[in-house]
Amino acid sequence: MRKGLLTFATVGLLASGGTAACGDTLGGPDHGDSARTPKIGVILPDSKSSARWEGADRRFLEEAFQRAGVRYDIQNAQGDKSQFQTIAEQMITNGVTTLMIVNLDSGTGKAVLDKARSQGVATIDYDRLTVGGSALYYVSFDNEAVGRLQGEGLVRCLAAKGVRQPVVSYLNGSPTDNNASQLKSGYDSVLQPKFDAREYTKGPVDAVPDWDNAQAATIFEQQLTQTDGRIDGVIAANDGVANAVISVLKKNKLNGRVPVTGQDADPQGLQNVLAGDQCMTVYKAIREEAEAASDLAVAVARGRTKDTGQTVRDPQTGRDVPAVLLSPRAVYRDDISDVIAADFVTRAEVCSGGYAKLCADAGVR
Ligand code: BGC
Repeated sequence: MRKGLLTFATVGLLASGGTAACGDTLGGPDHGDSARTPKIGVILPDSKSSARWEGADRRFLEEAFQRAGVRYDIQNAQGDKSQFQTIAEQMITNGVTTLMIVNLDSGTGKAVLDKARSQGVATIDYDRLTVGGSALYYVSFDNEAVGRLQGEGLVRCLAAKGVRQPVVSYLNGSPTDNNASQLKSGYDSVLQPKFDAREYTKGPVDAVPDWDNAQAATIFEQQLTQTDGRIDGVIAANDGVANAVISVLKKNKLNGRVPVTGQDADPQGLQNVLAGDQCMTVYKAIREEAEAASDLAVAVARGRTKDTGQTVRDPQTGRDVPAVLLSPRAVYRDDISDVIAADFVTRAEVCSGGYAKLCADAGVR
């Protein structure tokens, strides 16, 4: 990450306000002034790899666009790369002024960004950097910091359980997601020194293709078999993967004894933390991410530039992409009330059914 200024005076704009597509959502005071109102297209990746996309990002993006008074169209590619491209093409045809994508992989992401650019549509990488891509801005969290919090969390939970010489396994995120590499750099920076000092033993390391939770369970089953059940701690790259690992630990009556990390602070992740089956999760204030992305999307649609004060280096091209990177926060059992207070999840979602008593015992407000 490097400091830098940005300008992109050459950003072309699609001739103001294309025809409004069916299902266009119009919000705010500019209603009726469609010729000059920016129209933001957003493509979310799927609704299975994490609860966040439909549970948090959609809601917070809608709120931000409505507050800004711009037209928007948010769609979900449901993990289908050709669908992703079709949606992008339709959005461009329907006159979006800014296209914001969460790529499914950098190859298809780049094709979409290049196409948009060639049509004079401004582009933003939302949450995932498109490696080799051409987005004008990147809005995300400091993903290496997320990984560090996971590594530190695992160390803390293993110490609390008094595990000596633990064997630690990894379930990394999707190999096609640049965030997964950044997360790994983060947790490696904490754990590799422990492996080197022979304080910890490195167990099996696997990546979870497309962050697929079902595959994650199979992968972890294999890791357990491979090690004769000798795994003492698990780095799981997000809450969905963590939940898959926990389901396998439950089958083997090992849940609660083997700490597992996560990220996203989704309701299920928070319940797993509450139950003591998950060591920690990481809260990322998606409302702030959505607001930052919305501000930039509106600015670029109006042909303006913004100095984000930060850049991220594209590992393939070496380009310094102007970026907004927000700070993540570790969440342990005692922090769950803060995530509720931030209106990220509701108390009812976390404290439902069998979790009501656990919430009361943990003083979750
Ligand atoms: C996001 C995570 C999410 C994962 C799976 C990553 O790129 O940063 O928040 O859990 O994708 O969707």
